[in-house]
Amino acid sequence: MINWLQLIGTVVLIYLIWERFRQWKLAGNLPGPPTIPFFGNALMFLRCDVQDFVYKVMQLQKHYSNLCRLWLGHQLIVCVADSKSLEIIFKSNENLNKSVHYEFYNDFLKGVFIAKDEKWRGLRKIVNSVFHTNNVENQLNVFNNCFIVLSEVLEKRCGGETFNIDPYIHRCLLDIVCKIFASSRTDIQLKEGVTYPEDVRLVTQLTNYRFAKIWLHSDFIFNQTAAGRLKKATINKILDFGLDVIKERREILSEIQSSTTEDINSYSKTFLDQMMDYADARNFTDLELSMSISDVLIAGSDTTAGAISYMIMMLAMHEDIQEKVYGEIHDIFGDSSRPVELKDMNRMLLLERVIKEVLRHCCPPHIARRVEKNIKLENTTIPAGSTLYIMLYKLHRDPQYWSHPDSFYPDHFLPENVEKRPKYTFLPFVSGLRACPGQKFSLMMMKVMIATILRKYRITSNVQPSEVNLSLVFMLEISNGYNVQLTER
Ligand code: HEM
Repeated sequence: MINWLQLIGTVVLIYLIWERFRQWKLAGNLPGPPTIPFFGNALMFLRCDVQDFVYKVMQLQKHYSNLCRLWLGHQLIVCVADSKSLEIIFKSNENLNKSVHYEFYNDFLKGVFIAKDEKWRGLRKIVNSVFHTNNVENQLNVFNNCFIVLSEVLEKRCGGETFNIDPYIHRCLLDIVCKIFASSRTDIQLKEGVTYPEDVRLVTQLTNYRFAKIWLHSDFIFNQTAAGRLKKATINKILDFGLDVIKERREILSEIQSSTTEDINSYSKTFLDQMMDYADARNFTDLELSMSISDVLIAGSDTTAGAISYMIMMLAMHEDIQEKVYGEIHDIFGDSSRPVELKDMNRMLLLERVIKEVLRHCCPPHIARRVEKNIKLENTTIPAGSTLYIMLYKLHRDPQYWSHPDSFYPDHFLPENVEKRPKYTFLPFVSGLRACPGQKFSLMMMKVMIATILRKYRITSNVQPSEVNLSLVFMLEISNGYNVQLTER
């Protein structure tokens, strides 16, 4: 018995040494901090959460290069934040699968976000169909209706009192996503006790906490800890929300089935309907279906809501920019209260620059891919078996691309400045086949929402830009809250 164990141990060890040697040979010319035997650079990151990790990598990239390497034990990590390499990576149809770190989300996300290979291709087709251009008018109607409800809800907070606007924005976006992706009839903004956005934030924080604590990577150990138990309970609440959405849709569908043929003919399949067909074909339970739609519910609402809250704070703190944006909106709508129409979108040029500057600041700070085939770059090769970290945080703050890297400066996106920058320097939605499918949808939501709020309210804040503390959850957030005052225009 011992002999068998020894033999297996020796084979594994030889494989690990050989694999490390192969990767080291290919990536040997990549700069990076000195390593120590067995640990590599892992000791530098002991006790780091995701945020510390991103900041440390940014420092390392400043010191070594925008293309540098780390060894975490036997795992080679290649950190990339240079536009030339990113162009090669994102133009390729290979290496689309996400890194093992995303598997921490496996216990409640089983949809397109984490899926691999053929499963991903099938799910991605379904998601893409929701964003088909024919649906845009319909989406705009939903935005306008939900933003009218938001305006009414905010009216109660109007008049000088300081409050945190972020929960209102998150609920509104969740409302929109449930209406568009699942044809929900529930007005989430008016419903008591919806804690979905807070639950999602908590689970993300607990996952980030686990990230660099190697001993918590085992599900068995993590599940025994207080953090593990809290995560499980919170995930149950997230999945229950999905189950309620599914239940409501089933009721609506059975109403449609029992009504006139006209209703049946005019009904078009939502994302959830298509996911129900997908689940039926695989004998999924409703819980599995809930896991398969959670990523779209979360990605669709949480990210855009985070960006909108951030933008509201920036406009509150930079009143001169807010007044210019208001001027642009007033030129389009005058004093009318008509809803926003598609034709208005192309005229919101300053607002678009503000949105892009917000996304430069607060998109996901990094994404990670599993390298399954060697990636040949200009002067080196990223070897198969390594992990690729695309450091958007560093890319979006690099002084060689941005004249005011740490400030809020929408002029970064004036056409003449865009022209001067190389391609692949602004990638909030990343790029290529695995880019965010919600990019256009999200930009449209942001435009309509900010236009709706600014037409009615002036936003101010007592917080100064220098007092803002940033923290990393999924996107970069303002950790001291989105505290603003609203006054009627
Ligand atoms: C400000 C808003 C948004 C930002 C900054 C953003 C950013 C991103 C990024 C960077 C990724 C790639 C993640 C990775 O590879 O690890 C991604 C993926 C994704 N996003 Fe977004 N996103 C936003 C809004 C949306 C919206 C509105 C939806 C609507 C449903 C959405 C749905 C998705 C989905 C489903 C994926 C996974 C795609 C796949 O793996 O094939 N996102 N997003």
